[in-house]
Amino acid sequence: MQETILILNFGSQYDQLIARRVRENNVFCRVVPYNINPRKIREISPKGIIFTGSPASTYKSNIKPKSEIFDLGIPILGICYGMQVIAHMLKGKVSKAKKREYGNTPVSILRNEKLFAGIPKKFICWMSHGDYVAKMPCGFERIASTGNTDIAAMADKKRNIWAVQFHPEVIHTRHGKQLFRNFLYKICGCSGDWTMGSLIKESIADIRASAKGGRVLLGLSGGVDSSVCAVLIHKAIGKKLTCIFVDNGLLRKNEGKRVQDVFRRNFRLNLRYVNASRRFLKKLKGVLDPERKRKIIGIEFIRVFEAEAKKLGKAEYLAQGTLYPDVIESRSALGGPSARIKTHHNVGGLPEKMKLKLIEPLKYLFKDEVRKLGLELGMPEEIIWRQPFPGPGLAVRVIGEVTKERLDILREVDRLVVIAMKKAGLYRKLWQSFAVLLPVKSVGVMGDERTYENAAALRMVTSEDAMTADWARVPYTILAELSNQIINEVKGVNRVVYDISSKPPSTIEWE
Ligand code: XMP
Repeated sequence: MQETILILNFGSQYDQLIARRVRENNVFCRVVPYNINPRKIREISPKGIIFTGSPASTYKSNIKPKSEIFDLGIPILGICYGMQVIAHMLKGKVSKAKKREYGNTPVSILRNEKLFAGIPKKFICWMSHGDYVAKMPCGFERIASTGNTDIAAMADKKRNIWAVQFHPEVIHTRHGKQLFRNFLYKICGCSGDWTMGSLIKESIADIRASAKGGRVLLGLSGGVDSSVCAVLIHKAIGKKLTCIFVDNGLLRKNEGKRVQDVFRRNFRLNLRYVNASRRFLKKLKGVLDPERKRKIIGIEFIRVFEAEAKKLGKAEYLAQGTLYPDVIESRSALGGPSARIKTHHNVGGLPEKMKLKLIEPLKYLFKDEVRKLGLELGMPEEIIWRQPFPGPGLAVRVIGEVTKERLDILREVDRLVVIAMKKAGLYRKLWQSFAVLLPVKSVGVMGDERTYENAAALRMVTSEDAMTADWARVPYTILAELSNQIINEVKGVNRVVYDISSKPPSTIEWE
């Protein structure tokens, strides 16, 4: 049975970071809501449990785990609020601090416990708290302190409950990585059985068990997630998988051909290529509003996919490349829907409409893990390192009306941008680098001729997860060369501008 660590999320913004720290140590983990039923925990039988931080206060809120969790005999590590909730529930005392402690803080280890093995007696940790543990529960010892916080870490070795007030998951805490390693290996007794090889083996067994010999459909977009998903499922069930690639006419230059080459020829995947460009462009005629564009494309995709699937006969399953961050984000511990900024296009709505059961083999993986998995499956780097591309494609990068002519202009600009970024060694470093065709014409001069053509904007951003992004400081020499090349080579563009806005308050895509 796979060694698993459970991370109970109390509403921390760092839950995913904690998960990353655990997985970096070759131990599988899952993030679950803080009030998970102890019966469910027993079923999962984790090697250890981690409590995250939270913006809440223990003495004001009801955000607490079920009390039986302390009787399961499973090692626990509490972080920040996670420590305070342990103190509060086991009859210690949590109080409001006179002074908040925030940022880099020197911490002293008072007892050389397993949790601190291999860590110097004094190191810098990262603090962010307004409450503190004023009195430890019975059975606990103080094992670290800072100038401001007497009990910066505590432990009940008998019950195997450990807690730290600081955040070992953020990189500002030196030796945080070692602290997690100590908890996982020395306290929980993990052996580190989570590797890409073992993951592939298990996923294949899981996919076979879920599909039960039935037919599986998959909407292949050519992006990393759906591509890795396709190759993994194909490895598990071969010809029982059919991939449908919908060419909506909003793709980049040669994209359709490239996807067919890779998947049909190299991987011998059962692939249906549907050229629906005309259909999409007809529906988009005269549409200027970004949200309407997105809705039309989403609905049309479902229609085309459904029609194509019908031709294939009965299928029971739909596979999707859903990733772990999507699964976690959709269940925020403290509730409260986040505002919808843009309607993201995916295959949502298809499973219910077509009465298909879902298969989501990547739903416990982060993006970089999916990349590693893809490489392990022998997929080409060109696919694995492809930058994110939005579902509605170039339709949200042609500002204003989407026409074939404008798409063709943008495709040419986009091609030059990709080549330039790859040549400069920036393609992988940047989260995204692309062009936007503006609904603006301006005057230029080429040779002795006056021109009156389109303006294109270059958008290059760095980001960790697309939730926030910064405009990339691409060297002027590279921008200059690219701008020249675009204006000289792409007919219809006589001006290039560089977008220097960050997200928030802007977004990455323009529409
Ligand atoms: P924004 O523009 O909201 O984009 O800052 C954040 C990230 O999401 C990508 N994006 C999409 N991806 N379907 C997708 O699969 C969509 O409809 C969609 N819209 C935006 C965008 O490229 C960026 O990486």
